[in-house]
Amino acid sequence: MNYIIIVIISYLIGNLSFAYILGKFILKKDVREYGSGNSGTTNAIRAFGAKIGVWVFVGDVLKGVIAVLIGKTISGEIGGYIAGAFVIIGHNWPVLLNFKGGKGVATTVGVMLTINIFVTLICFAIGLTIAFATRMVSLGSIIGMSLAPIVIIIFVRPFNTQLFVFCLSIVLLSIYRHKENIKRLISGKENKL
Ligand code: G3P
Repeated sequence: MNYIIIVIISYLIGNLSFAYILGKFILKKDVREYGSGNSGTTNAIRAFGAKIGVWVFVGDVLKGVIAVLIGKTISGEIGGYIAGAFVIIGHNWPVLLNFKGGKGVATTVGVMLTINIFVTLICFAIGLTIAFATRMVSLGSIIGMSLAPIVIIIFVRPFNTQLFVFCLSIVLLSIYRHKENIKRLISGKENKL
């Protein structure tokens, strides 16, 4: 029963898309009608500028943090993993927004920050550097997140199988969400910031 409560709470928290909420309430615009159509930080920066984009990032990170803390409080480590997975699913496929959400990068950062700050900061720093250097946030996101399971193998002692499997799962989910970006990256047509 506790796991079902965690699934519902974290999925609904994930539905709070800050790109959509801030765009609608401050500017009366739907972020999904601009740029890549994605309801996330990168597209909020494209559509509304950096100031709103920063708040979108903060909000989407915080919801990942809050969901995992709730999950851990209710059911310990496993509760945190379930909450982490479902807050990302709620962000990517929000029932409140007709299942047209984001790609879960900022929310994944929040989830992983709460679960393993060291792994997250290394991958975030690498991803951010790539994003700044290429102005392609998708490339930074994909590479930064893909490194997380490798960083866990190299640095986390003792090795934590549950953490590794969880991390690998949310990374694969995010790569799947970036499939259109990957096609554009391969054809050299990816949107830049
Ligand atoms: O935040 C998601 C990012 O990795 C790509 O976003 O809008 O360029 O598809 P976008």
